[in-house]
Amino acid sequence: MSYYRHFGLEREPFGTTPDPSMFYKTLGHEDCYERLKLAVHLQRGLSVIIGDVGYGKTTIKVALLQELQAEGEYEIGIVNNPRDCRTDGQFLRSVLGQFGLTPESRTALDLTTEFLRHLEAMHVARRKVLLIIDEGQNCSSSQLEILRTFLSFETPTEKLINVVIFAQPELEEKILRKRNLAQRVGMDHKLNPLNRKDTGGLIEHRIKMARFCRLDASNIYTEDAIDVIYERSHGIPRAITNFCADCLIEAAFLQLDTVDAALATEVIGRRIFTGADEDGRTVRQVQTTLGIPEGVVDMDEARARRRA
Ligand SMILES: Nc1ncnc2c1ncn2[C@@H]1O[C@H](COP(=O)(O)OP(=O)(O)OP(=O)(O)O)[C@@H](O)[C@H]1O
Ligand SMILES: [Mg+2]
Repeated sequence: MSYYRHFGLEREPFGTTPDPSMFYKTLGHEDCYERLKLAVHLQRGLSVIIGDVGYGKTTIKVALLQELQAEGEYEIGIVNNPRDCRTDGQFLRSVLGQFGLTPESRTALDLTTEFLRHLEAMHVARRKVLLIIDEGQNCSSSQLEILRTFLSFETPTEKLINVVIFAQPELEEKILRKRNLAQRVGMDHKLNPLNRKDTGGLIEHRIKMARFCRLDASNIYTEDAIDVIYERSHGIPRAITNFCADCLIEAAFLQLDTVDAALATEVIGRRIFTGADEDGRTVRQVQTTLGIPEGVVDMDEARARRRA
């Protein structure tokens, strides 16, 4: 694609998928990742990672999965969104199915017992079992109760299953309301927005990976442009990657080699949805009476100016 060629790229640097090769270990993400890995290895029971929309939870999940699968010690089951399971029976079937079981039982109690038998067999076979839940804020009260039951399966020395939940902040309240579940949280961590240094680091890393680590990962984005991206994204990774992608496409369109602060300001200003307000919440751009987002310059004029 000429867009890639223009910047010497071999693939998309700012894709929206949680690609582990694009995972940049920011201060906060690395801390979370290492502590989570340790909690899993130490069989700490329940680990809970809380982070607002677009903060990088699924990215950490995918990176962790890749590493644990490579280690080969774990039987891993994943529920990507508990909301997809409308009944407790469906939830249990989905969990059992993730571990290769085709449950015959009908009632939730029987399904739970069937799972316990499987966990015991895994224990005898010296296989560790890990259940990962993404979008954990969607867990119903009874699904959390089922997880609590799983976590009570243990031998005198070991848990039969460990659970990791990635969730938006709404889960905090739900767990706090269940004291016996809250007490089983062996590790928890809250993700924060990135600081300016990590924002620059993430952009640099993704460009470098898109060039397949060739050493010429020189700056496409000027430091001033990164300042603008950082300020407007409030350090939220999804907003950072979206803004960077927009800027790159616009720069290629204008035949520019670099993204500077003026271009970043224009491009981000044109977005209807910026992805964040001061509190990091998704918002629309403020519209003026003319229907043009505030701070937006006339793009035709801008293009003509730049081409001149
Ligand atoms: N540490 C990181 N390094 C590189 N890219 C990242 C990082 N963290 C997040 N991103 C990028 O930001 C975007 C959002 O990340 P992700 O999907 O992991 O967020 P999330 O917290 O799971 O969001 P949601 O709550 O909506 O599920 C993705 O495009 C991802 O690639
Ligand atoms: Mg996610």
